[in-house]
Amino acid sequence: MIPAASAEVSNSAIIRAKIDLFGGRLGQASHAFWNSPHFASIYREQLFLSHAIVRASVPLMQAAEEACRYPQHAGDAVLEGFARYLRHHIPEETGHDRWVLDDADAMGIGRAAILARQPKESVARLVGVPYYWIRHYNPIALCGYIAVLEGRPPTLELIGEVAARNNLPLECFTNLTHHARIDPHHRRDLDDVLDALPLTAEHLALIGLTTLHTLRTLTEIMNELLAGTESPSI
Ligand SMILES: [Fe+2]
Ligand SMILES: [Fe+2]
Repeated sequence: MIPAASAEVSNSAIIRAKIDLFGGRLGQASHAFWNSPHFASIYREQLFLSHAIVRASVPLMQAAEEACRYPQHAGDAVLEGFARYLRHHIPEETGHDRWVLDDADAMGIGRAAILARQPKESVARLVGVPYYWIRHYNPIALCGYIAVLEGRPPTLELIGEVAARNNLPLECFTNLTHHARIDPHHRRDLDDVLDALPLTAEHLALIGLTTLHTLRTLTEIMNELLAGTESPSI
């Protein structure tokens, strides 16, 4: 019997395959982070970095939603669908920066210290590049950023094990524990939207570019964190 022609590969499978293929170095850096013998001090710095990134998530999605409605994109079915997804997802992500600040309080850093410190240039690049694509070319680029950032949350088991090993209460990890619960759903929602949108090869190439930028810059940020930073930690 002749097998049926192989089914077309879905949009989400293409994007997830790119993340798997090019995410190895980020995975290694994450592994080193979780297993660091200096975890408690590295985690303090990671909260500062996380906050700098997470506080930009909702404004970035709002910028993309607005750009989907630019006159030059009128009647674009892909961007109409993506804007609908963003209007649903923006409220789901609202306030998550406060979870990081709560963790900073629990760690004895204090939210004021996090808010007062100048964010890293690498973080500005991580977030700034998607702004360019959104405002000056095509907001669909943001899919690659979201796919990476919400794609691989640590599990509750891992967080519990690391907290216990480092004698830190779980109250210091609310941002991560919340995301361990919700991001698997957010990942599925994004994949469903990607698969429902009539993406062209050009859309997928642009999303791939943002995916690679996000992986590469997050890896750089993690490696900076592991190496110890030039600026004083909190
Ligand atoms: Fe979130
Ligand atoms: Fe999320």
